[in-house]
Amino acid sequence: MTPTQTLPATPQGLALAAHLLRAGLQVAMPTETVYGLAADARNDRAVAGIFAAKDRPSFNPLIVHVSDIAAARKIAVMPPEAEALAAQFWPGPLTLVLPIQPDAGLSALVTAGLDSVAVRVPAHPVAQALLAQFGGPLAAPSANPSGQISPTRSEHVLAGLSGRIAAVIAAGPCTVGVESTIVDMTGPARLLRPGGIALEALEACLGHALLTAMPFDDAAPARPTAPGQLASHYAPGAAVRLEAQARQGAGDIWLGFGTECAGADLNLSPTGDLVEAAANLFDMLHQADALAQRTHTGTLGQIVVAPIPEIGLGRAINDRLRRAAAPRG
Ligand code: TXA
Ligand code: MG
Repeated sequence: MTPTQTLPATPQGLALAAHLLRAGLQVAMPTETVYGLAADARNDRAVAGIFAAKDRPSFNPLIVHVSDIAAARKIAVMPPEAEALAAQFWPGPLTLVLPIQPDAGLSALVTAGLDSVAVRVPAHPVAQALLAQFGGPLAAPSANPSGQISPTRSEHVLAGLSGRIAAVIAAGPCTVGVESTIVDMTGPARLLRPGGIALEALEACLGHALLTAMPFDDAAPARPTAPGQLASHYAPGAAVRLEAQARQGAGDIWLGFGTECAGADLNLSPTGDLVEAAANLFDMLHQADALAQRTHTGTLGQIVVAPIPEIGLGRAINDRLRRAAAPRG
């Protein structure tokens, strides 16, 4: 394949990106959560190219990105509670799993043959501009090789996928920093993946609790319904230990959180702000991984991470950290 182009987030850059997408190629685009690897959601070959570039197990369905609620209604059936969530949280880091419209025109690879589809309206102005230029739905998982840390900068995308995709639109760091919250709306509202919108905010909007099927629940299904549910995911090269109040060995890279971690190598949020910590999470995991490789020549240091409170965006952060620390399979 030809080398991956880095495109600026200018009208010319976006016009070229839209042209590449129309030609069935894969282009990494910024969203407010993480960079996504976009392709035409109606084109089987284009979508297959996403799986090939990421080396992703193809039973995983992808999120379809559209420009607004009206575009979402063309591909998915929106029950009243989905409309309520969309009205409050779109555009933004919320993905709704909805019954697919019979004439949605999506590649069956996008839905992995399911009769539901995951839909999201991204808030990032560059993603919005690209959707407008392209004029159709874009399938986009995170723009990283399968199983590795999600990219929050165009440099991360290039580090993982250079030479495997047509282009990346460079638009600086992602502001949210963790993937979208996924809620299954095909039945009673059910949280499939914690993410950029806090569970508490969703429950406040709907006026009731959401069902949850978290991977570490005893009740979790044996077969994951979201790849985020695969135990080892988002994994750095170095081993990861959680709930660390301090370094355990001299070679450890300490990833702190809050004021108690003054001696940490990196701090997700020195003031203990969970929104800031989410925004920094994947970038600091990338940095800690690079530091861990440098610590010992030959041996890899481990990454030790301070405890993060299990509230608000802390749920999404802990979910990603548990997977980064899970035994590799
Ligand atoms: O923030 C995000 O959501 C990012 C940016 C790029 O938008 N995208 C992202 O996509 O994280 P991806 O492909 O890495 O995650 C898609 C998740 C998977 O866990 C997948 O299983 C779930 O959405 N999903 C997609 N379609 C589904 C469906 N029909 N039923 C259940 N889960 C579905
Ligand atoms: Mg991903």
